Amino acid sequence: MHWPKGVDGLCYGGDYNPEQWPEDVWDDDVALMREAGVNLVSVGVFAWARLEPKEGEYDFGWLDRALDKLHEGGIGVDLATPTASPPPWFTLAHPDALNTRPDGTLQVHGSRDTYDVHAPAYREASLRIAAKLAERYAEHPALAMWHVHNEYGSTSHSPHAERAFRVWLRRKYGSLEALNQAWWGSFWSQAYSEWDQILAPRATQYLTNPAHELDFKRFTSDALLDHFRTQRDLLRAANPQIPITTNYVFGDWVPVDQWRWSGEVDLVGFASYPSAADETAERQSALHADLARSWAGGEPWLLMEQSASGVHTRHGAIAKSPGRMARHSMIHISRGSKGAMFFQWRSGRGGAEQWHSALVPHAGKNTRVFREVVEFGRALPGIAEAKDAPVEADVAILWSPESWWATGGHASLPADVDYFENVAQIHRVLRDRGVTVDFVAPEGELGGYSTVIAPSTYVLSKAAAENLRWFTAGGGRLVASYFTGAVDEHCQIWLDGFLGGLTDLFGIRVLEHLPQPAGELRALWNFGAAERFCELVELRGAQCVTQYATGDVIENQPAVTVNPFGEGEAWYVSCKLVDDAWDRLFEALELNGPGMPGVDVVDRGRWRFIINHTDAEAQVGHVIVPAGAWTVDERPA
Ligand code: GLA
Repeated sequence: MHWPKGVDGLCYGGDYNPEQWPEDVWDDDVALMREAGVNLVSVGVFAWARLEPKEGEYDFGWLDRALDKLHEGGIGVDLATPTASPPPWFTLAHPDALNTRPDGTLQVHGSRDTYDVHAPAYREASLRIAAKLAERYAEHPALAMWHVHNEYGSTSHSPHAERAFRVWLRRKYGSLEALNQAWWGSFWSQAYSEWDQILAPRATQYLTNPAHELDFKRFTSDALLDHFRTQRDLLRAANPQIPITTNYVFGDWVPVDQWRWSGEVDLVGFASYPSAADETAERQSALHADLARSWAGGEPWLLMEQSASGVHTRHGAIAKSPGRMARHSMIHISRGSKGAMFFQWRSGRGGAEQWHSALVPHAGKNTRVFREVVEFGRALPGIAEAKDAPVEADVAILWSPESWWATGGHASLPADVDYFENVAQIHRVLRDRGVTVDFVAPEGELGGYSTVIAPSTYVLSKAAAENLRWFTAGGGRLVASYFTGAVDEHCQIWLDGFLGGLTDLFGIRVLEHLPQPAGELRALWNFGAAERFCELVELRGAQCVTQYATGDVIENQPAVTVNPFGEGEAWYVSCKLVDDAWDRLFEALELNGPGMPGVDVVDRGRWRFIINHTDAEAQVGHVIVPAGAWTVDERPA
């Protein structure tokens, strides 16, 4: 059920938009796909206006022909519902179904994602087109998987959203009294006396209420999930043999809690677009892959999109150097992906993304990029046996989307806290030490890990705090860093020492937050340095591992502590350490793996994947991997 139906081996392909091209190009497409070993394409992702040119009038002829042609060519189809881009006729007929920004601006058609997921007209129109596709294609032999929507992530602040938000809040809090308490409504006269007074967090005069903001994100995640579910159920009813996915997008603007979504999809699909072209691209790719696998509960998942040849940066799309596309793909496959898919098959001539790279570039097949695509496609069948093998990790990093959301939008924290960077830092330092990690939800299953690292987990619910306590008492090693458990699930500050109330677990109390100007370092004795953020810590049974060497209030005060607790131990890092200092700490904790900086070494089942991103030959055990190359070998016993 989880495997795209009828697709053997690892999935290889990408978004394919036959509707953008004359039909005489399609034969060439299928021939080139066969040459490259493509076996799966995502079709129809934004094709709503072609499928339903006028309300209730459908044109499926072109899609019939495209699917038949793909099937004849032996290529499976991941068929999308096109609901991420409503056609102009829809938005003009239903202006109330447009996405509304916090300042009340309606986002008219002319781009994509111009919908309000809470609007009844949009919900009806989405279901109608999904039902038509299900009716017509559920039994089509090319159909390998359904792809619902595209990159769920649009927040709307419309009156429809507000009505739905109030229903969601009523269900959650039961009474206005409870809501007012949870939101600390006595501050700035924000207490509500009627449910209808509650708005979406729209543009207002000054700072907004963090609990209100956080609940609105949770609500939006649930509402988007509900939209997914209604389509999924309809598609599933039409043919229970076809797996159903959607492609997660990743970013701080995305109000989707993937921990809550992943049990709802048959296969976790993920779109990975690193944001910088230096070695950050490899680091982020590895982090994306480890997140996706963890969201999938350790099961295989699928890299649904990546760019074929450009890394998108603020300075444009920097071309991937020879071999880099293959290495990025291998980062994902080694970390549990069932293949490597791309946006997109063929570069478009027009439209907003006309300069986006593709497997078939504008210049056609006689290009470096397409030659690399063919070369990589031919290599994949040789490693197909690894496709369902699990990746095992002994170390996990806590991933808390709520901490990301709550610190990101909060204008009055003691200092900027870049939650994502703090997580990414732990991931990159461990990756450079060769350690493969999982991610885990704050309230998730920790039992299988020897070490759990909680970087700046700002929002810590009581349940999550108890989870950490239970893990440590049972013999686990917990390493938490500054600002962990600063607030509870309602964004209310944990009193009497912060730390989610876990002062006994850590054997310390945090007394004060002491940010310092950006760029200034504060030295730690024998331990490197801290930047930006330190906390004044009082020992309550813990041992001090190292102290601050400088700083008026903080000099000689504990910087890193450890406390034995039950069968385990709880470490606390009361500052934002620089990479080198984390590396020293992990050295002391003996967190080591077979990889090294610039060389990914990941064990998957009985296979060892070695990916050498450096420009020198790398040796791992008896295996020598040339510069810029990758290999898959038997895992050592
Ligand atoms: C996303 C979308 C694609 C395309 C790419 C561009 O992942 O799903 O439609 O816009 O980004 O990088």
